[in-house]
Amino acid sequence: MSEDKKGYLTITNRKKVTTHRLREMKQQGEKISMLTAYDYSMASVIDQAGIDVILVGDSASNVMAGNTTTLPMTVEQMIYHGKSVMNAVKRAMVVVDMPFGSYQGNPYEAVGNAVKIMKETQADCLKLEGGKEVAESIRAILNAGIPVMGHLGLMPQSINKYGTYAVRATEDEEATKLLEDARLLQKIGCCSIVLEKIPAELAGKVTAELDIPTIGIGAGAQVDGQVLVMHDMLGLNKGFSPRFLRRYANLYDEITTAVRQYINDVKSSDFPSEEESY
Ligand code: KIV
Repeated sequence: MSEDKKGYLTITNRKKVTTHRLREMKQQGEKISMLTAYDYSMASVIDQAGIDVILVGDSASNVMAGNTTTLPMTVEQMIYHGKSVMNAVKRAMVVVDMPFGSYQGNPYEAVGNAVKIMKETQADCLKLEGGKEVAESIRAILNAGIPVMGHLGLMPQSINKYGTYAVRATEDEEATKLLEDARLLQKIGCCSIVLEKIPAELAGKVTAELDIPTIGIGAGAQVDGQVLVMHDMLGLNKGFSPRFLRRYANLYDEITTAVRQYINDVKSSDFPSEEESY
């Protein structure tokens, strides 16, 4: 890492980020930066900017398709988004979410879907939500040589079970289960774990205990890395303002201004000019 003229930390190591590198980053105390992307153009921008990990999240269901949950996503749709991202990325490690229903049943089906996603996208890793309940599927996928990132805490694929997007594991029983699940995921061979919307203290405890990196979203600062949904951090979603979200741009307003200007230029015959014509 070095500082550029504007004082931003920039990546000097252009080598491909791997699961091995993530573990090394944890050991060296270097925080892991992760963002979602679902298409070629945005993946290209964030890879060039130096992001460490790109998550082809099933949040595509919300931000790309306008669904209210992640549940409708299919294996085919994840493959479409995964391929588009992989066409752009040179450095970042690319993780693809296994969608709802593709791994919660029997482990044979899970490994079949995992192999299909890996073959067709050529991604680097898959992410699955859950602990003990899906451990057999995760084991089968790992046995096929596919790296797995776990996901504990608020698991959006289980939203209908929770009935709320509130912070998880605030009570002892759920916090104890989360810690046990994190230990189990490490034991069976997951390369890292996303911790979503849990108390910072619990996330810190999990992070201190594990050798594999934890990546938080709404899980405070005592984790090994952070992930945000790109559309949220760029300010494309006006109506979504959870406490954990820091907005780094206000693209909703910027795009609106640009589109209004364009409409104006077309209506007033200002566009195209002579220089913009053949
Ligand atoms: O699908 C997704 O974007 C995610 C992140 C919220 C971690 O799983």
